This record gives sequence, structure tokens and C-alpha cells, in this order.
Amino acid sequence: MILKETKYLFERNVERLKKNSSLNYALVDMNEKMEVNNDEHLSFLSKKEIEYLKAFKIYKKKIQWICGRYAVKKAFFKYKISRKSIVDLSCVDVLKGADSAPYILQYPNINVSITHSFPYCVGVISESKVGVDIEKFFTVEDSLIDFFFSDREKSLLSKITDPHQRNVQAIKYWTRKEAVSKFLRLGMKMNFKELDTVDNELKIGNYKISLFSFEFSDCCLSLAIQIGDGSSDSIWGRFLN
Ligand SMILES: CC(C)(COP(=O)(O)OP(=O)(O)OC[C@H]1O[C@@H](n2cnc3c(N)ncnc32)[C@H](O)[C@@H]1OP(=O)(O)O)[C@@H](O)C(=O)NCCC(=O)NCCS
Repeated sequence: MILKETKYLFERNVERLKKNSSLNYALVDMNEKMEVNNDEHLSFLSKKEIEYLKAFKIYKKKIQWICGRYAVKKAFFKYKISRKSIVDLSCVDVLKGADSAPYILQYPNINVSITHSFPYCVGVISESKVGVDIEKFFTVEDSLIDFFFSDREKSLLSKITDPHQRNVQAIKYWTRKEAVSKFLRLGMKMNFKELDTVDNELKIGNYKISLFSFEFSDCCLSLAIQIGDGSSDSIWGRFLN
């Protein structure tokens, strides 16, 4: 179950970001979507999505996928309401592209990002490019830091003496890297080591990206949001693995 306090902090923090962007979001408690065989719980899915769902063999993956669609559709509904319009969510297809990045079939200009870390699932949508990542706290081993982190990230981490604070900071960098990799639609193809996430603003190719990170009692969330108009998808070659 997601704590009330975490829900409150999540809303308070992310709500502030809406002021300067077209961001809409939804936080879903994955416990509430565990009853996958109950049709009532799945009435928001489109025909295409129900077909896709049938292919899942692993229960956990199925739940993650359902929650991801639910979170995106909830965020999309809020977006439509803010524009004084409503939409039948069962007629909206939230699909996966060849690069595995999510998109809305009927609204190709809307950017979508999804993250899950049980029991949290977050869906964000925006008119600008966006990426989101949430991670429950785990111990980031030195070998992972060495493999994935930039020299500056490593150097700053090495100066933090308290092991808990050091780990929290490492998870913050981790979620920022994942959020940027989703923003660029690279996923695991991202060269994470090349990506330095210490500053709150990044320039990658023609994109200017703002990074926002929030810590909660047991997890960290980061968002990568486009600032201005980066009109080209080019010149981020060195960030590709
Ligand atoms: C594919 C990847 C994006 C998954 O990230 P993750 O943190 O394991 O999982 P999350 O739950 O946060 O994200 C999963 C969602 O990412 C989205 N996603 C997958 N590939 C994507 C891509 N290329 N571009 C944008 N979004 C993508 C999908 O929407 C997926 O949810 P869905 O399957 O329900 O649609 C990828 O970065 C990955 O596998 N990372 C592994 C962890 C790692 O080694 N990280 C190093 C960080 S320093």
C-alpha cells in the first residue's frame, strides 16, 4: 500500500511542475489493480490492449503493464479535462513502439512515459518530451556505480561520508539517468556512464532538459522535462551505447 503521506508529498511536488509545463501525471497503487481477472478493473482497456494483455505469461509483468496503461490514461483524462474535453478511455490505445517506448496511437503528438517499482506506478503525459523513473530504495553496489556513473557523479558520491545519504544520492542519479533514457526513447541503449546528471539542466543535442528529483520515505522519483523547443532528434550519438 502507498502511504497517505507519500501520496501527499508526491502530489505536492509534482503539482508544482505543472505550472511551467503541460505535464499531467497519475500515481497508481499497484495493489489496487491486482484483481486482473475482474473485468470491471479492466474496463478502461481498449480492444487492442486486451489483445496485447493476453500474451503475458508472467503475472507480475501483466500487473505492471495494466497499471502503466491505467496511470497514463488517468493522466491523459486530466489533460483532456483541463482543456474542457472528455474522452472514452477504452477508445484510447496506449501501445509500445519498436523502441519499446510507450505512445498513444490516437494522439501521436502527446508524449508519454511510464515507470513502476512495486507498489508505485507513475504515468506522465505532456505536449513536450518527458521521461519519468521511480525506484524503491535498494543498495547501489560499487560495481554498478563504477559501471554506470559519470566521473563527476562518482567524485561527488565519494565525498558523502554517511552511507545512507550516499546511497540515496546514488539512487537519485540512477533515476535521473533512467528518466533521461526514456525521454530520449533509448532505454537500455543509453550510454549511462556518458550521461552526467549532477546539474538540474542538461543539453543533449538540440534538447534542453530540466531534471527534477524527489525523495520519499522509501523511494526516489525523477522527471526529465523538455524546456523550449528542441525540434530535432539528432546529435545525441555519444549517448548511445
Ligand atoms: C527499459 C528501461 C527503460 C526500463 O527501466 P526500469 O527502471 O527497469 O523500469 P521502469 O518500470 O521504470 O520502466 C518501464 C517502462 O519504461 C518504458 N520504456 C521501455 N523502453 C523504453 C524506451 N526505449 N524509451 C522510453 N520508455 C521506455 C515502458 O513504458 C515501460 O513500461 P511498460 O512496459 O509498462 O510500458 C531500461 O532503462 C532498463 O531496462 N533499465 C535497467 C536498469 C539499469 O541497468 N539501469 C541503469 C541506470 S544507471
